[in-house]
Amino acid sequence: MRHWHVSFLSFCCFFMFLCFFLFLLTPYDEISATRTSSFDLINKTCKTCSDRSVVFNFTFCLSSLQEIPVSHMTNLQGLAIVAMELALQDTTRTLSVVKGLLRNETSGRPLACLRDCDMLYSDGVVTLVDSVGALLEGRYGDAGARVTAVMEGTETCEEGFRDVDEVSPLTERNYSVFQSCDIALCIMNLLNSDALSF
Ligand SMILES: *[C@@H]1O[C@H](CO)[C@@H](O)[C@H](O)[C@H]1NC(C)=O
Ligand SMILES: *[C@@H]1O[C@H](CO)[C@@H](O)[C@H](O)[C@H]1NC(C)=O
Ligand SMILES: *[C@@H]1O[C@H](CO)[C@@H](O)[C@H](O)[C@H]1NC(C)=O
Ligand SMILES: *[C@@H]1O[C@H](CO)[C@@H](O)[C@H](O)[C@H]1NC(C)=O
Repeated sequence: MRHWHVSFLSFCCFFMFLCFFLFLLTPYDEISATRTSSFDLINKTCKTCSDRSVVFNFTFCLSSLQEIPVSHMTNLQGLAIVAMELALQDTTRTLSVVKGLLRNETSGRPLACLRDCDMLYSDGVVTLVDSVGALLEGRYGDAGARVTAVMEGTETCEEGFRDVDEVSPLTERNYSVFQSCDIALCIMNLLNSDALSF
């Protein structure tokens, strides 16, 4: 199990590296705001997304996308990949928090809920890797549907604790994964619809 976990993580690292490379090799797209600096693109994207949804956190969007240097030289397609990397990172981190709680016998957390969350977030990591594949092939609708499934998974994890009247130890993680996924999802929707006018 441990071995599997480690090799899976190195697979993820390799995969992200590969994505980064593919991204560098992607010809600069006419659609992109060629003359727009990356800051303006990030600002505009986060603004557009938060105008479209009440749940969307503009500040979270701005600070997470700016954190990554790659996004300083990107277009909307590139930004989608950056957002997916962030979502994948967040989900992987959450999975290790869940595994840590499962290992701690004295944490007093309901085991059944934690096992469900373990499964949901493990599936989430795999689903996001698949979503990156779909994204790289330009299948934005498909990629978006997978991201939505991951967001539903975070909800299901939280509901598990609520159903047994326990305080979830993962609420903050849920928020972060949910928001990261929402950024990626919104960018994919933009790519799928009105990217030309963006
Ligand atoms: C971000 O963009 C909005 C318009 O979309 C603009 O009003 C605002 O000043 C910009 N923020 C910064 C910090 O440039
Ligand atoms: C939005 O995200 C920021 C930065 O992560 C956080 O400080 C803030 O509390 C969030 N806003 C809400 C309404 O949760
Ligand atoms: C296990 O959980 C308990 C209770 O929440 C906590 O005090 C302790 O620090 C945890 N131990 C580890 C190794 O995380
Ligand atoms: C999970 O986080 C998102 C934050 O965007 C929030 O909308 C949702 O209500 C949270 N779910 C639960 C069950 O707390």
